[in-house]
Amino acid sequence: MAAPLTDAERLRLLDALADGQWHSGEALAAAAGITRAALAKRVDRLADWEIEVEAQKGVGYRLAQPLERLDAAELGRAVPGLRVEVLPVTDSTNARLLDAPAADDPQALFAEYQTAGRGRRGRRWASPFAANLYLSIGWSFPDWPRQLTALPLAIGVACAQALDEARVPGVGLKWPNDVLAGGRKLGGILIEHRGEAGGACRVVVGVGLNVAMSARQAAAIDQPWTSAHQLQTMHGVAPISRRALAAILLRTLHETLSAFERAGFDAFLPAWQARDLTRDRAVTIASAQEALSGIARGVDEQGALLLEAAGTVHRIHSGEVSLRAA
Ligand code: BTN
Repeated sequence: MAAPLTDAERLRLLDALADGQWHSGEALAAAAGITRAALAKRVDRLADWEIEVEAQKGVGYRLAQPLERLDAAELGRAVPGLRVEVLPVTDSTNARLLDAPAADDPQALFAEYQTAGRGRRGRRWASPFAANLYLSIGWSFPDWPRQLTALPLAIGVACAQALDEARVPGVGLKWPNDVLAGGRKLGGILIEHRGEAGGACRVVVGVGLNVAMSARQAAAIDQPWTSAHQLQTMHGVAPISRRALAAILLRTLHETLSAFERAGFDAFLPAWQARDLTRDRAVTIASAQEALSGIARGVDEQGALLLEAAGTVHRIHSGEVSLRAA
């Protein structure tokens, strides 16, 4: 049976390995506060968080790629006054914040690793340790927002703007809120809310952005995907530090939620249109009940997709968009 490993031991081991260089077994054991004899089995357990470690006899161990852990204090400085927490591991940052007291909003929660990261439509969101960004923000609107259904689109705009600022090239949006580049998924947004129509409304805005995930870590993803570092490397741009990207994303999301609270989606509609990857293209929208094909004609002020089919423009409120071959 594999040796038990506490989260604290695992983090000490990781911090000792974080630079991506080779480290001898002796040095690692000392840094992690465990015996040399126990080390190999403990290193094996790093795989529980989907961390890839290489071992070489007589040399030691190294991570397949260097690792940069997030720092809550640094992220807190990016948005003064915002409560920010970073957990090394949790089931899902969305699930945690849905259970958190609304009195603590606005609050942001990052996780380095999610054991049950949630995607849209009940899918699993790949969340290997410190490879990408997994963030949720709890936000309480004092009044029910007039254009709440368009909030996912505004958040998509925020993600695209943050990625622009981080010099990640070619980012576009696919309705309702897929963040894509080069036809591949770069990020996703999952907004969950509780509250009653007409009263105060609390949302949890979850964002996952692929930053430096390896092909092996992404093996379970069943759609074309990309990452910030992959895109930057392809375009000759130096890969952004994950910590810097996290700070930019947090600030941009906070600004967007504040502006949405004041002015709704109208303020974001032109920016969304400028990123719209499906406009005037032949698409099929699949919902639980049916599939409808037509030409995408942008979105309305409530964030509904306008789909022209047989001379009629339909307003689609939910579904999965796929492009059809021309
Ligand atoms: C999608 O399917 O496109 C949405 C993915 C949303 C993933 C993020 S990661 C942070 C937050 N916590 C979760 O469990 N899901 C969201």
